[in-house]
Amino acid sequence: MTDIRAALKQGIAQLREAHVASFTLAAELLLLHVLGRDRTWIYSHPEEQVSPADADRYFALLARRAAGEPTQHLTGKQEFWGLEFEVTLDVLIPRPETEHLIEVALDRLAVREIRTGRKQTLTGEGLQIADIGTGSGCIAITLAKELPSATIYATDISPAALAVAQRNAARHSVADRIHFIESNLLEKVSTVGARYIMPLRSHGANPEVHESSVTSHQSPFFDLIVSNPPYVGRREKETLEREVRDHEPELALYGGEEGYEFYADLITQSAAHLKPGALLVLELGHNSLPAVQPLLESPTWTNVGVTNDLAGIPRVIAAERL
Ligand SMILES: C[S@@+](CC[C@H](N)C(=O)[O-])C[C@H]1O[C@@H](n2cnc3c(N)ncnc32)[C@H](O)[C@@H]1O
Repeated sequence: MTDIRAALKQGIAQLREAHVASFTLAAELLLLHVLGRDRTWIYSHPEEQVSPADADRYFALLARRAAGEPTQHLTGKQEFWGLEFEVTLDVLIPRPETEHLIEVALDRLAVREIRTGRKQTLTGEGLQIADIGTGSGCIAITLAKELPSATIYATDISPAALAVAQRNAARHSVADRIHFIESNLLEKVSTVGARYIMPLRSHGANPEVHESSVTSHQSPFFDLIVSNPPYVGRREKETLEREVRDHEPELALYGGEEGYEFYADLITQSAAHLKPGALLVLELGHNSLPAVQPLLESPTWTNVGVTNDLAGIPRVIAAERL
C-alpha cells in the first residue's frame, strides 16, 4: 500500500529520470486521472491510501509517459480556453498558442462591430464563421461558446477528427450551432450537395453523414474564417519532440516539405468565401511569417496585423477582405 504523497513523489522521480518535460505536472495529472479527483483534493489528503488497483494503473501510465506517450493521450483530455476537450490519436492536442488566435479573432470582430455602429456586446448575432482544419474542434467550439448567436462551420479532411470534434461540441452544448463538413480546406463548403455531417444531438453517438442543402449557399458567405493549419515542415521532422513526432497525427502536423505550403490555397479560397470587410485569422508556424505575409499584400486584403505569442514568435496573422 502507498499513500498519495508517496505515490506522487515516486511518479515525479520516475518521470524526471526519464527526462520528461514538466515531469511534476505530468505525474500529478496522471494521479488525478486515476483517482478521479482534483488537485485541491490530493494536496489536502496526502495521507490517503491509494488502492493497489489504482496504484497499478498509475504506475502503468507513468511507464507509458516515460516511454514518450503524451500525458493527454493517457488521460484523454486537454484544457483549452478554460474548457476541457477530449483528445484521441486522431486529433492534434490543443496548444496554448492557439488561444492567441481566439483572442485576435474576438478583438478584430469587436472592432468591426464598433466601426459598423452595431451594439458593443459581441454575441455573434448574424455572424457566419468557418474554422478550417478543426481537429478536436477547440477553435470552433470556443468561438461558439464566446459568440452564442453565431453560426459556425467546421471543416476537416479527416473524418476521424470530425467525430472527436462533434463529441466535444456535444460535451459543450454547442452541437446545434456547428456544422461539421468533411472537406479539403473550403472545397466542399460551397458545393451543392456537399457531404455534410449532422451536428450530434447526444454525446457519443456516431456521426450521421448525409447530403444536405445547408452547404449550397452562394459564396462569398463568411464574416470570419479562422484556421490553425498544419504548418510543420517535413524536413523538421527529426527535430520534433518524440511526443509530437511519434504520437500526433501527421495530417495535423505537416504542411509540406517546408511547412508553409498550405497557406497559399487557404488564403485564395478564403478570399472567395469572405464577405467584403470580413476577417481572416490564421495561426502561423514558428518560421511561416516570411512566406505568409506577402500572400496578404495583394489588393484583396487590408489591415494586416501580426501578433506574437508569449515567446515572442509571430504566431497569428489577421487581415480584412476588401
Ligand atoms: C494543426 S491541426 C489544428 C487542429 C485544431 N484546429 C487546433 O487548433 O488544435 C490541423 C488540422 O487540419 C486538418 N487538415 C489537414 N489537411 C487538411 C485539408 N487539406 N483540409 C482540411 N483540413 C485539413 C488536420 O486533419 C488537422 O485536424
